[in-house]
Amino acid sequence: METLAPLAYLIASICFIMALRGLSSPVTARQGLTYGISGMTLAIVVTLLTPTVSSYGLIILGIAIGGSIGTILAKKIAMTDLPQLVAAFHSLVGLAAVCVAASAFFNPSAFGIGEIGDIKTVSLIEMSIGTAVGALTFTGSLIAWGKLQGVVSGKPITFGGQHAFNAALGVLLVVLIIMLCITQAPIYFWAITFLALALGILMIIPIGGADMPVIVSMLNSYSGWAAAGIGFTLHNNLLIITGALVGASGAILSYIMCKGMNRSFISVLLGGFGGEQAAGGAADMGDRQAKIGSAEDAAYIMKNASSVIIVPGYGMAVAQAQHALREMADLLKKEGVKVTYAIHPVAGRMPGHMNVLLAEANVPYEDVFELEDINRDFSQTDVVYVIGANDITNPSAKTDSSSPIYGMPVLDVEKAQTVLFIKRSLGSGYAGIDNPLFYADNTMMLLADAKKMTEDIVKSLEH
Ligand code: TAP
Repeated sequence: METLAPLAYLIASICFIMALRGLSSPVTARQGLTYGISGMTLAIVVTLLTPTVSSYGLIILGIAIGGSIGTILAKKIAMTDLPQLVAAFHSLVGLAAVCVAASAFFNPSAFGIGEIGDIKTVSLIEMSIGTAVGALTFTGSLIAWGKLQGVVSGKPITFGGQHAFNAALGVLLVVLIIMLCITQAPIYFWAITFLALALGILMIIPIGGADMPVIVSMLNSYSGWAAAGIGFTLHNNLLIITGALVGASGAILSYIMCKGMNRSFISVLLGGFGGEQAAGGAADMGDRQAKIGSAEDAAYIMKNASSVIIVPGYGMAVAQAQHALREMADLLKKEGVKVTYAIHPVAGRMPGHMNVLLAEANVPYEDVFELEDINRDFSQTDVVYVIGANDITNPSAKTDSSSPIYGMPVLDVEKAQTVLFIKRSLGSGYAGIDNPLFYADNTMMLLADAKKMTEDIVKSLEH
């Protein structure tokens, strides 16, 4: 088994690479998942069969408890709550990295890295980075989970000199790692761990709710690097490769999200944006009135249109309106209307959120277009059906330099002849700012739950 294990780990690593490749498109996502599950099963089975595993009791108990909790959570979780689930899972990866580093530090001979007080310097560096990044990921992910779940306030928590203070703690962390390598004293190991735990909290509290998904993805990346660091300590190539894959893909995802919101990664890290009510940017609506319509009005307008673009957003996910939406699109197509979907890169609350929901409702992939491929079409479109979206259509991002979303690319829905907005009120979206489009001459507001309104339109179209 010892000679076969590296080969099996290599196959598992290839499976993980294929999984990431598959998950990059809705068309191949299921295939990607199959690769991921196969790779992980192979990795676990081969690890359990290696001769160094002397007893199975605790391992099976751990798999049974963890597997049961994971299965129950995955079955119960609502799609809109996935970001906080992911944050909670990352916290466990961080904690696992700390536990492995601690066991390697206090029982080095079991890991073949020396004796207590005489551990190889390179192993000390690996384990201290592993425990520091792991501890930081643990508390940082717990705070991110709390903010997303509403247990901790989503408002940025700031104090004077915060960034300088955090930077000083970061420098202290490096000093402690050097001291650990020189002295090998356990006090420095624990000091590194506790300082990193505190740093995780301090780094995440100033970040507002709207930026949390970016932070979750960044913590995902950290958890990967922590696992890779521990892979070096354990001399486990699979853990190094898998950790690096998670680390790199999390970092790329954070970059894509920042690009979608036109925000620099550093400014997200420095925090401050995205409180429950972001300051500034509220459009002055004067005493303008929004035009309110009904399901019958919407059905009539769309039935007589030649083209309709559907713009889904977070509210569609909340209402789970994707199946009714598909039904509505099918009826319109039967009437000879050209129906397409426009997806904004940060619509909803996680990357690919809308694609997943539309795929679940079997919306044909060829009808779904990304922002850069469809934005030019709005000016030649009769009707735009904006369902539960808000910020991603807000023209203040183009016109109001004081708006917190200024510079974010948005879908130019206002250029269509008629814009139908389906939401429950004239209230704001996640960025907490008003949307002047609600009061535009070519806009009709359909104020209702997205699923209920779409079902009513379907009924109206059928009759
Ligand atoms: P939002 O701007 O958050 O607007 C969603 C709208 O849906 C709300 O205004 C809400 O209005 C409406 N809504 C909620 N529940 C509804 C229901 N049951 N039926 C009908 N409408 C409902 O969403 P968006 O346009 O998708 O924009 C996404 C926001 O999240 C952006 O600000 C983006 O920067 C941020 N964000 C996204 C990501 C990723 S990766 N997707 C990452 C970080 C930040 P009512 O309450 O009036 O109904």
